[in-house]
Amino acid sequence: MGLYSTYIFPRFMDWLMSGAEFQRLRSSLLKDVQGEVLEIGFGTGLNLVHYPSDVARLAVADPARFLPQVVAERISAASFPVETHQITAEALPFSDHRFDWVVSTWTLCSVGEPTQALKEVRRVLKPEGHFLFLEHGRSRNESIAAWQQRLNPIQNLIGCGCNLNRRIDQLIDQSGLRIVRLDRFHMETVPRIGGEMYHGWASPNA
Ligand SMILES: C[S@@+](CC[C@H](N)C(=O)[O-])C[C@H]1O[C@@H](n2cnc3c(N)ncnc32)[C@H](O)[C@@H]1O
Repeated sequence: MGLYSTYIFPRFMDWLMSGAEFQRLRSSLLKDVQGEVLEIGFGTGLNLVHYPSDVARLAVADPARFLPQVVAERISAASFPVETHQITAEALPFSDHRFDWVVSTWTLCSVGEPTQALKEVRRVLKPEGHFLFLEHGRSRNESIAAWQQRLNPIQNLIGCGCNLNRRIDQLIDQSGLRIVRLDRFHMETVPRIGGEMYHGWASPNA
């Protein structure tokens, strides 16, 4: 990893994504999560303070280790055990049907093979489990979508692999997960090209 991706990007990402609107969305997404939980794309652990104390254990999967000291402090303040795995979501080292909930926030934009990662999510979820997602992606507005397409190569570079133009609902469908609820909206504090949101949950039972 270079200087930018090791030192500059993680600090910028942590600062940007801890803003008030991000915090409000994280809180509302995670309020009902409980039991055995997996988070894919843990980043700097910004979701940790929003999990309810009903979480029995949280496993997290991320190939990067951003801001390790900050993350260690956030983990030690959690009221439940946190298991960290430096791995990609495309190959999860967990047995089938282990988790009650799998959580993904602003992650599917960056995963190399998102459909494969979502197939893994489906495999590790209990049959009655929930896949909770809060992701940015391709706009329904054709003019914005065209700008997302144009600017994607630049975003890929400055966002360390982040894509602006993914159809998150389509990727979830392709994995065999069944979308039960999907809300589309755009964030108020983020430019439309990066703030077109897909929010909801999916079931492993197709
Ligand atoms: C924009 S950050 C979001 C971090 C965190 N989910 C949040 O909400 O603050 C995207 C994260 O996805 C992670 N990521 C990238 N490729 C991944 C993969 N194949 N599997 C799991 N996580 C991945 C990155 O390392 C990064 O931590």
